[in-house]
Amino acid sequence: MSQKKPWAGRFTAPTDAFVEAFTASVEFDQRLAPYDIQGSIAHAKMLASQGIIDAQERDAIIVGLQRILSRIEAGDFEWSVALEDVHMNIEAALTADIGVAGKKLHTGRSRNDQVATDIRLWLRAELVEIRAAIRRLQDGLLDLAEREAATILPGFTHLQTAQPITFGHHMMAWFEMLDRDHERMLDCARRMNVMPLGAAALAGTSYPIDRQLTTDLLGFDRPADNSLDAVSDRDFAIEFTAAASILIMHLSRMSEELVIWSSAQFGFITLSDSFCTGSSIMPQKKNPDVPELVRGKTGRVFGHLMALLTLMKAQPLAYNKDNQEDKEPLFDAVDTIKGSLKVFADMVPAIDCRHEVMRTAAMQGFATATDLADYLVRKGIAFRDAHEVVGQSVAYCLSKGCDLAELKLTELQSFSAAIGTDVFDALTLEGSVATRKHIGGTAPEEVEAAIARARARLVSEKGN
Ligand code: ARG
Repeated sequence: MSQKKPWAGRFTAPTDAFVEAFTASVEFDQRLAPYDIQGSIAHAKMLASQGIIDAQERDAIIVGLQRILSRIEAGDFEWSVALEDVHMNIEAALTADIGVAGKKLHTGRSRNDQVATDIRLWLRAELVEIRAAIRRLQDGLLDLAEREAATILPGFTHLQTAQPITFGHHMMAWFEMLDRDHERMLDCARRMNVMPLGAAALAGTSYPIDRQLTTDLLGFDRPADNSLDAVSDRDFAIEFTAAASILIMHLSRMSEELVIWSSAQFGFITLSDSFCTGSSIMPQKKNPDVPELVRGKTGRVFGHLMALLTLMKAQPLAYNKDNQEDKEPLFDAVDTIKGSLKVFADMVPAIDCRHEVMRTAAMQGFATATDLADYLVRKGIAFRDAHEVVGQSVAYCLSKGCDLAELKLTELQSFSAAIGTDVFDALTLEGSVATRKHIGGTAPEEVEAAIARARARLVSEKGN
C-alpha cells in the first residue's frame, strides 16, 4: 500500500504502483543517509540561529535525527519505496518521531539542494579514503623499489627488448603514475567543496537564511555562487569518474605487466599464492586473477564516466529527475576504485622477483646495443656511423646465435678498429644501467635518490 507522499497535496489519483518503484531511488541512495542527516542538522541549526524555527524545535530535530542515524546504523530502520528516496524517508521518520517540529525541517530547502549537498559531503569523505589508499599503494611500491633498486631486467619498447633497466626504476614509474592520480583526486576534492544549501528548488528562498553559517558548519569552502548552478551542477561527479578512469587505466597497465611477468614464458616474478587461484581442470595452473580482474574492472569505470557525461549533456537548467541517475555510476566507481586500490596495495609487497630469470632475459635481445653505440661515440665516431657498426655486429650475432657480450674482442674489432678491451665494461648489464645516472635515470643510485625524494615529499605532506 502506498504511504502518503509529502508532495501529494495537489494530486487526486495515487501513483501507479510500477511508477512508484520505477522512480524511487531509496534502494541505492540510502547510502547517503549519514550525510543527509549531517546536512539536515546544519540546516536546522541555521534555521534556529536565524529565528526561523525556535531552539526547542531545533533541539528536537537534532536529537530525532541522531536517533534515526543510530537506527539506520543498527540496521533497524525500515526503508519505504513509497517514500521515494533517502531524504523523504528520513524526514517522514523524523516527523513520526518528534511530531510537528519534524515538518519544519524542510523550511527554506528543497530536495534539489539537499541531494546536491549530500553527494558532495559523501564524495568528499570517500576522496579522503581514496587518497589514503593511493598513498598506501605508493608506500608499498617505494619499499619494493628500494628492495630491488639494483635488480636488472630488460626494459621494453613495443614489448621488444630495448635496454636494461632496474626493477626499482620500473616500480618508481608506477609510483609517479599514482602520484598524478593522487593530485587529480585532491584537485577534484578542492573544486567540489562548495555548498549548495539555500539554492532550494532552483531560485533560492524567501527566508532570511545564513548560507555562510551552513557552509562553516559543514566544512565547505564557500556557498555556491548561483542557485541554478548549485542544484544542477554535477561536474564534480564527472571529474571524479574521469580521474578514477585515469587511475584505473594505470592499475590496468600495471596489471597487464604483472600478468606478463608472471607467465611461464617470462617468469620474471612470482605473485603470492594468496592473490592467485587455480583451475578446476588443469592442476598445474596458478592464475593471476587479481591483476586480471582489476584490468577487467577498467571497463566499468570508463563506462560510468560515459554514463555521467551522457546523463548531463542535454539537460536544461536547473534540476531534472535525470540527475537521480548520477548516483549508481558514482557509487560503483568509488567502490571499484577502493577495492582495486586495496587489493593492489595488499598484493604489491608480496611480489617476488626472480633475479636470475630477469638477468638472463636482459642478456638476450641485444639490450646493450645502444651502449656499444654510445661507447663508439665516446671513441670519436659519429652516432649515426656507430649505429651502423652496431647494427652489423647484431646481424653477425644473429647469424651466430650469440649475444654481443659473448663476441671475442677480435670479432668486435672486425666491425670497428676503435673498439678496445674496455668495450666489455660497456656491454655488461651493470655497466649499462650504471651510466644512466642523471635525474630520472635507471642507475641504482638514481633509483635510491628518487625513492628518497618521494619519501620526503610524502612525509612533508603528512606534516602539513
Ligand atoms: N532522489 C532525487 C535525486 O536523487 C532527489 C531529488 C528529487 N527532487 C525532485 N525535484 N524530484 O535526484
